[in-house]
Amino acid sequence: MAPPSRRASDNVARRLSEAASRRPSIDPSRLIPMDKAVHLQGSDDFNVVFVGAGNIMFGSDEGPWNHSFRFEHKLGPRLKVVALIDPAIDRAAAVLQKKCETFVRSAYENTRVFRTLEDFVKNMSPKDRPRAVVVGSPPMFRGTTQPGRDIELQIMKCFPGVAMFIEKPIATGPVGELEEAFKVSKAISDSGAICSVGYMLRYLKAVQKIKQIIEENNLTVMATIARYATAYEAIAKPDWWDKAKSAGPVVEQGTHFCDLSRYFGGEVDIASVSAHSLEWHENAGHLSKQQIDESKIAPENRIPRVTSATWKYESGAVGSFTHLVALQGHNYSCELEVYADGYQFKLVDPYVQPILYIRRPGSDLDEQHRFPDDDPFFSEISNLIDVIEDIEEDPESATILSSFDDACKTYQLTWAIRTASEQSVKACMDRKAAA
Ligand SMILES: NC(=O)c1ccc[n+]([C@@H]2O[C@H](COP(=O)([O-])OP(=O)(O)OC[C@H]3O[C@@H](n4cnc5c(N)ncnc54)[C@H](O)[C@@H]3O)[C@@H](O)[C@H]2O)c1
Repeated sequence: MAPPSRRASDNVARRLSEAASRRPSIDPSRLIPMDKAVHLQGSDDFNVVFVGAGNIMFGSDEGPWNHSFRFEHKLGPRLKVVALIDPAIDRAAAVLQKKCETFVRSAYENTRVFRTLEDFVKNMSPKDRPRAVVVGSPPMFRGTTQPGRDIELQIMKCFPGVAMFIEKPIATGPVGELEEAFKVSKAISDSGAICSVGYMLRYLKAVQKIKQIIEENNLTVMATIARYATAYEAIAKPDWWDKAKSAGPVVEQGTHFCDLSRYFGGEVDIASVSAHSLEWHENAGHLSKQQIDESKIAPENRIPRVTSATWKYESGAVGSFTHLVALQGHNYSCELEVYADGYQFKLVDPYVQPILYIRRPGSDLDEQHRFPDDDPFFSEISNLIDVIEDIEEDPESATILSSFDDACKTYQLTWAIRTASEQSVKACMDRKAAA
């Protein structure tokens, strides 16, 4: 047994490390589906600018995302989309046309399309000043301090104090630009602007249930084990397969699970990250059902089929993550396990039908929890709007779960995984060449 003075300092250290790894959370019973939510009352218009007229903003067959739909349900007739910014003017005009043919016409009938934010600002009348700017442009155009790729800085300059919603990942430039993302983050926090980043899995009821049990039982996370297996047959965007364009599947896609891992495990000791990969040119990396012509992508930019990483959290806990480009069909196979003394939380299929298995002290059996009608995309937008509107009835009800700074750290982790795996490939090739 440690002497009392040692135990006291251990306890302080433990509390500090717990505080460092604590993340904001929401009571899961407050995460209500869209059809049970009431429109925010009020007669004033709520002006919004959308940046990007693509799938995340207006939906597609690829998945349940569609921010405009959630804004419409949250704000009802108050929603006024004052501008849609997209260099693909025709695409923007086409989505607006479709909206104007439906019962949500009032939100879009006066929406103007511009190629750039600057063009909008030049042509804007004071009544069109937005209360929120929602950014769903490709990540290569944001998260830096460089002109044309600095939308966050532009927004803050043109509309000081306006709330922002930024899609994940916060950037996909070269790893050398990571510092710029942190500069953008500092500028956002210095400005005091409300900013939420689109790591919507944090808003899953299942995720908040895990958080609740950890908090109520004062648990310390010992390990996170995450697996993200993509159904590659369904991915037909050539850019996704090109590391030079998308930054690779861990940075672009696995980011959701790296983020969830951090949400539970806390800060990562970045220097501890190690990783291995199975590359496209290795025998085991051959894929038989690719929908794209990979020969058109430069060999050095083709993506790995498997990337597997481990790391230490600053708390001492251990994290691991495996991303696979291996499955066919349509649905992904994704699981996250979180361990604490006596507890195992296993989240299965968070994208489609989340199931949470919980094993607790005193039992060898898994409880099974299902969450029908859960809509994390709605919950993230709903919480953002409530924070903007500063609803004070219950100070705990509205919370942003993913800040820009937190998202920068997730971006940093995903780059550390990619870099470590590439170094491991190089070391392996050097060993083979020397043998
Ligand atoms: N959270 C999720 O589950 C989820 C799901 C889908 C997409 N996303 C993210 O949303 C972002 C956009 O993805 P998407 O699927 O909508 O892509 P998309 O290609 O369907 O749409 C992107 C749109 O942005 C436009 N654009 C290009 N450059 C622009 C610029 N400088 N300013 C404004 N618009 C510009 C394009 O013309 C296009 O219309 C990505 O970061 C992606 O990772 C997140």
